[in-house]
Amino acid sequence: MEPRPPIAIVTQSERMRAILSRVETIARSDTSVLLIGETGVGKELFADYIHRVSARSERPFVKIALSAMPHDLLESELFGHERGAFTTAHADKKGLFELAHTGTLFLDDIDDVPQAVQTKLLRVLESHQVMRVGGTSTIPIDVRLITASKVDLRALVERQLFRADLYYRINVFPVEIPALRERREDVPLLVAHFMRRFAPGRPIAVTPEAERAFVAYDWPGNIRELRNISQRLALFANGQITLADLPPELNGGHPVEGLIKACSRCLADGSMSYADVVTCLETNLLRQALADARGNRTQAAKALGLSLSTLRDKLKKFGLDEAGES
Ligand SMILES: Nc1ncnc2c1ncn2[C@@H]1O[C@H](COP(=O)(O)OP(=O)(O)OP(=O)(O)O)[C@@H](O)[C@H]1O
Ligand SMILES: [Mg+2]
Repeated sequence: MEPRPPIAIVTQSERMRAILSRVETIARSDTSVLLIGETGVGKELFADYIHRVSARSERPFVKIALSAMPHDLLESELFGHERGAFTTAHADKKGLFELAHTGTLFLDDIDDVPQAVQTKLLRVLESHQVMRVGGTSTIPIDVRLITASKVDLRALVERQLFRADLYYRINVFPVEIPALRERREDVPLLVAHFMRRFAPGRPIAVTPEAERAFVAYDWPGNIRELRNISQRLALFANGQITLADLPPELNGGHPVEGLIKACSRCLADGSMSYADVVTCLETNLLRQALADARGNRTQAAKALGLSLSTLRDKLKKFGLDEAGES
């Protein structure tokens, strides 16, 4: 078997460390695990890790994102089918439970399973047997189940959208992975990690102001968002990432605010004259107001507190009036 790269779960958060040590213990047992957390917090990474640490690590690891699967194909995907079970079933097909036999099955977005499939799923988990769609005999199954959900399943149970008995079955060991904004101390560590990864052999420093902006941001897309932004920055970075390099959402919310900071630095280090800075700020203020108003000049003028004729004059002066008026 090919050597597999190690799974790096980068963190220095106390809370995450405690969760990880619990996960390690759970991983070595054979129990079901339910991973709960917002998008991008690392649920799949944890699932990989659990399988890797478990006694089943050399056995199959099968994953399925239940939300990505059309409901009518879900049963045959999970449980397999016999030839002729439905019009397009031209041959026997093993389901994912069979493929994961002796190994681990990761059901992602478990909250997205329709009720009919929930019932079947519960039956499989309780009996340790599957029956293929259109089949007549059962097949013994030995799988370790890992599930993941972005939503609180308990709330779905209360609203009778999720079977309570299935919930208890999969919720033996719930693991809640906190959002990145609840462990901001991980942000600098993760940025450094992704810079090394996306610019190998090309060290990239992050200035203290840029790092503060990274830490202050709320990261609605969690580590995935941070990873994507880091990847983009690493691609263009020339040894250093400054506040001006960051995307507007990290730069104090408004693109012009980032620009003001960048301009005042240029003024301080002499790379721009006072007149350059004023022009740069003014053109960008105008451009941004037009963009915010989707090209509507009356609206842009209002937002800037200028009369329409003054705005027109300025657009002309800075050569911003080519685009037709809307
Ligand atoms: N602690 C971490 N250290 C390093 N990389 C991480 C960490 N957590 C997450 N990642 C990376 O962030 C990305 C998103 O993680 P993952 O796909 O596991 O999130 P998820 O919770 O499954 O998201 P979704 O709910 O959207 O499916 C992946 O590339 C993953 O490797
Ligand atoms: Mg995922």
